[in-house]
Amino acid sequence: MDAVKSPTWDANLYLKFADHRLRPALDLMGRLDPANGARAGHAIYDLGCGAGNITRILAERFAQSPIVGIDSSEEMLAKARSQTVDKRVTFARGDLARFTPEVPPAILYSNAAYHWLEGHIDLFPGLLSLLPSGGQLAIQMPRNHEAPSHALMRKAADAGPWKAKLDRVRGIAPVAEPGRYYDVLKPLCSALEIWESVYQQPLTGKDPVAQYTAGTGLRPFLEALDEAERKGFYDTYTGMVAEAYPTRPDGITLFPFRRLFIVARRA
Ligand SMILES: C[S@@+](CC[C@H](N)C(=O)[O-])C[C@H]1O[C@@H](n2cnc3c(N)ncnc32)[C@H](O)[C@@H]1O
Repeated sequence: MDAVKSPTWDANLYLKFADHRLRPALDLMGRLDPANGARAGHAIYDLGCGAGNITRILAERFAQSPIVGIDSSEEMLAKARSQTVDKRVTFARGDLARFTPEVPPAILYSNAAYHWLEGHIDLFPGLLSLLPSGGQLAIQMPRNHEAPSHALMRKAADAGPWKAKLDRVRGIAPVAEPGRYYDVLKPLCSALEIWESVYQQPLTGKDPVAQYTAGTGLRPFLEALDEAERKGFYDTYTGMVAEAYPTRPDGITLFPFRRLFIVARRA
């Protein structure tokens, strides 16, 4: 299975909204079983660890385990390594589509990464099979692809001379209905929790929604264009999202964001 062609990442732009992105990561982490952190000879993996800010929190929560962050982006990994002093935490380059752990995992944790892989659902049974009985697979993915912020990427892509170039851009792979993940995972689990939350993110500043998506879902579109086209496309997109997400009288732009959570315990 091929991963969606990974965009290059701007760690600083991504981290601009770190507070809003942190909350779901912690909500997912809250369902992890501390007993899995005490399994000798096992590690906790942060799959698609990005700049490592969540990886470091995992290390604080699980003080006895080796913690390994895996990511395909050298830029994200460089940022992660430069900000991590705890020798128990290591980072390695790897493709989530072909993940093979060097140390057996007790927990496979992944925040906001697997939606970048087309057909990610087919990978989940294999991930579960890497765990010991009672080990946990914990995954959070945005399920916001039908929201205006994402639907307008395609609309703006079709609305200018950049259309031909952007027709080829696939963007983020849609995340399926929760029930599909349930059907695939339940036969392999002793316990399975799946839930969704819609976070009403209060953003500030100029073009806040476009700035937010420019750090993630909009990147493949921006990267397909030259500088002049990029500006035209970005301005078109920004105008569209500003209408869809008006700034309130107090200066706040509410950006509702739906996320899907899966916590599967291997039978
Ligand atoms: C939105 S960021 C999330 C980073 C981190 N988990 C967090 O919550 O802050 C998505 C990360 O997934 C990584 N990623 C995307 N596709 C990947 C793949 N096929 N293999 C490994 N990492 C991938 C990207 O490089 C990026 O760092």
